[in-house]
Amino acid sequence: MRHLVLTGFMGAGKSSAATQLGKMLGRPVVDTDRLLERRLKSPIHKYFDKHGEPAFREHERALVAEVLASREPAVIALGGGALQSGKTRKQLAKHLVVYLELSSEAAWRRVKSSKRPLARDETAFHALLAKRRAHYEDTADAIIDNAPRGNVRQAAPWLGEMLEREPGERLIWANGKGWSYPAIFSPGVLARRDLWAAGDNGVTVSDRNLAKLNSWLKDGIVVPPGENSKTLARVEEICEQLAEREFERGRQLVAVGGGVVGDLAGFCAAVYQRGTPFVQVPTSLVAQVDSAYGGKTGVDLPAAKNYVGAYHQPEAVLVDTNALASLPRGELVSGYAEVVKTALIAGGRLWRRVSDGVDLKQAFDPWIVFECARTKLRVVAADERDANLRQILNLGHTIGHAIETAAGYGTLRHGEAVSIGLNGAMKLSGDEGLRKQVIALCRQAGLPVTVKGLDVEDVLAHIRLDKKRKGDNVPFVLVERPGAVTPGHAVPDADVRLAVKELIK
Ligand SMILES: NC(=O)c1ccc[n+]([C@@H]2O[C@H](COP(=O)([O-])OP(=O)(O)OC[C@H]3O[C@@H](n4cnc5c(N)ncnc54)[C@H](O)[C@@H]3O)[C@@H](O)[C@H]2O)c1
Repeated sequence: MRHLVLTGFMGAGKSSAATQLGKMLGRPVVDTDRLLERRLKSPIHKYFDKHGEPAFREHERALVAEVLASREPAVIALGGGALQSGKTRKQLAKHLVVYLELSSEAAWRRVKSSKRPLARDETAFHALLAKRRAHYEDTADAIIDNAPRGNVRQAAPWLGEMLEREPGERLIWANGKGWSYPAIFSPGVLARRDLWAAGDNGVTVSDRNLAKLNSWLKDGIVVPPGENSKTLARVEEICEQLAEREFERGRQLVAVGGGVVGDLAGFCAAVYQRGTPFVQVPTSLVAQVDSAYGGKTGVDLPAAKNYVGAYHQPEAVLVDTNALASLPRGELVSGYAEVVKTALIAGGRLWRRVSDGVDLKQAFDPWIVFECARTKLRVVAADERDANLRQILNLGHTIGHAIETAAGYGTLRHGEAVSIGLNGAMKLSGDEGLRKQVIALCRQAGLPVTVKGLDVEDVLAHIRLDKKRKGDNVPFVLVERPGAVTPGHAVPDADVRLAVKELIK
């Protein structure tokens, strides 16, 4: 029996979310702060002022232990500081823990005029959240951004299903303007067709490599593996096959594969009958840490990568990190370039973990996959359509894409080109120390950071074709430090030329 336990900082909305989830899931609701006030016969702020925080925490820890041990499955809202107790954190491991996330600024706006004892000074408030964040993150099975109203209500059925299944799954509630969906991280989910193929309702699109490994995929549409499948001709072929199968809008297209299958099938889903729902089941590292989230779909033109596309958000992303075990090593290494890029964007704990170095001979760390997905989804939530912030996801890609195209699609893997592009972007960013660190990380993983035999002018011509170009200017994404990555920098042509020259040996 698992309780659903809501955690999060002051102002995250745990109490009202608990009431809502209790109603929707048909479970009783326990609010530990309210229960404590009844037991202590005092409002929390008064008890705090009279007896001090340690005395309060001791009462809180004992009460939370009692509530968690109760037999009737409930929805439990924990006080914001309850996770300071290591014992409480341990006890939570058995239950479904949902972290309601809110930015420090939004939380402060919500609580600054309340009587909460730890919300009397703004600087101390922000510092406290920064200190507690790791506990919220580390105990969470599900993370829901609770700024946009409605996320908890929409996530409720998925949380209900997670409660029915074995522990071990994690969820990020992805959301943006007018859309939201779950990204579910579930080891072994690829083999659980019932979860994603929805019987006859779904049609899978995969590639031959995936279909060899999972024979049931042969019932669906199978394309040749590799970047050369990302063409308009292939889109037409898939759409024709869908028409032959009498595929209609109410049904679901399921992309099972790497970034190529995801981009291609996602684009077909965007345009077939002007839009049909689709699910992403990413199986490569690139797809699991990056391409499956965010709704960018598309195919290449001979002139440039991803030149024809559409924004089309999936209904769900189902991630099976176990699937990475069959990924050829070269592909794993290639995906690692997107990991380094994402860690640079995120800074903080993700950067620290990645910059410690990752042994790609071991099973890939699911925590890194989860945190990369979270970083990407956070950026996309703020700017779905690349107006500004989302462009930071293109770190290393302006030069990387140009090199990939100049080399001829299929010559370099996408991640290899990104690794070379990252080297270029770090050169333009001007912090040689950090550049050396990034180069060392990429090299250690087996990624190239330079390329042979390309023509500098050809690469520069491809950079000028970059989709983000405004008039004559191609804006660059630059890194000030890990966690401080910004888009839209004008860089003198001479500097770009110099950086590209250094990349070509
Ligand atoms: N839409 C986006 O936001 C976005 C972001 C980043 C990259 N991309 C795109 O993603 C593509 C690159 O993705 P990719 O590197 O996954 O390429 P890919 O789809 O070609 O996959 C790489 C190779 O690994 C194989 N493979 C995948 N999963 C496997 C598994 N579990 N076991 C065994 N083999 C497996 C594939 O068959 C393929 O041969 C590029 O086209 C790039 O433009 C898109």
